[in-house]
Amino acid sequence: MTTLRGNWNYPTAIRFGAGRIAELPDACRTLDMKRPLLVTDPVLAAMPMIESAVAACRSAGLACEVFSDVQANPIEANVTNGVAAYRSGGHDGVIAFGGGSALDAGKAIALMIGQTRPIWDFEDREDWFTRVNVAGMAKTIGVPTTSGTGSEVGRASVLTDLRDHSKKIIFHPKMQPALVIADPELTLGLPPHVTAAVGMDALSHNIEAYCAPFYHPIAEGVALEGMRLIREWLPVAVRDGGDIEARSHMMVASMMGATAFQKGLGAMHSLSHPCSANLNTHHGLTNAVVMPYVLAWNRAAIEDKMAPLAAFLGLRKHSFDGVLEWILELRRTIGVPQTLADLGVRDEHADAFCRQALDDPSTGGNPLPMSAEDFAQLYRNCIKGKLTGSDK
Ligand SMILES: [Fe+2]
Repeated sequence: MTTLRGNWNYPTAIRFGAGRIAELPDACRTLDMKRPLLVTDPVLAAMPMIESAVAACRSAGLACEVFSDVQANPIEANVTNGVAAYRSGGHDGVIAFGGGSALDAGKAIALMIGQTRPIWDFEDREDWFTRVNVAGMAKTIGVPTTSGTGSEVGRASVLTDLRDHSKKIIFHPKMQPALVIADPELTLGLPPHVTAAVGMDALSHNIEAYCAPFYHPIAEGVALEGMRLIREWLPVAVRDGGDIEARSHMMVASMMGATAFQKGLGAMHSLSHPCSANLNTHHGLTNAVVMPYVLAWNRAAIEDKMAPLAAFLGLRKHSFDGVLEWILELRRTIGVPQTLADLGVRDEHADAFCRQALDDPSTGGNPLPMSAEDFAQLYRNCIKGKLTGSDK
């Protein structure tokens, strides 16, 4: 078997392979960090993997401290407090270490170190990223501990804005960590339901990027192989969390999803963000639930792309139906609930969330143009389990 290890420079410098977390002190030296602030979440902070990473840095002479005041679906205060910890500790770089929430918080903290504007001024709209004082950004190392978000190779952070309970995407091209250590051993302890939920987030990135109606063959090629790896290895990783080969391929598929979605996302993410922002549902799980309903909705616009996808994945039917049946079967196999009602979303939420969904930056990448009424209908489809297409 090919050795599942490599040093890659696309889309950023990635040291990939089991056990490579041991190279964290060397990665800090490579970026000339002597006093890194390790940003993680409180659950991980209590686990041996963080303890040993910090110990390794300290014994290599690095003044490494931990900041773990980061909640799931992080908020502005997590970033503000992290910036304060960075400044008071005299740090010179950030190690963003964890799942999507910790990675996004770490990247946002690194962005905000030298800024004078509020973070919401850097939302992913028009050319707002040009407002960033790039010289004031801290260097970042990304260390993922789940395989889903791909945030370690992404150029944005998703934060909940408590003023209107919406998810906002904070973007700057240089938010992509300068160096990533992608060690699949860090994901071995993830329980099956988390492995499933984050793995479906990776699938949603790959499939939404593949379907987004823009010209970007590079992203589409990455997305195709990302989906092939997920089809083959996600069920294995859920069934046997200790299978390092499955964990390795899922970690790469996750990075491929985030690489591909530079092309765009779509209505899966538009629908999902308001649910997480208001009801604190898990991002990947919510995407997994809405996935087949969004595909069915977009059917007329994506049908032509589904046949080559189905053929590449080796599905029985080389058609839209082949892809839809595979996704429904995959969801059953890995234990994803079938409807948004199962996540506590009700009809009255649909009416409230549809405007936020319309306003979500992901909406521009949906294969069909969407209105608030379309989103309300699509929410109801997801709540009731109706696989019907748009009548446009
Ligand atoms: Fe996502």
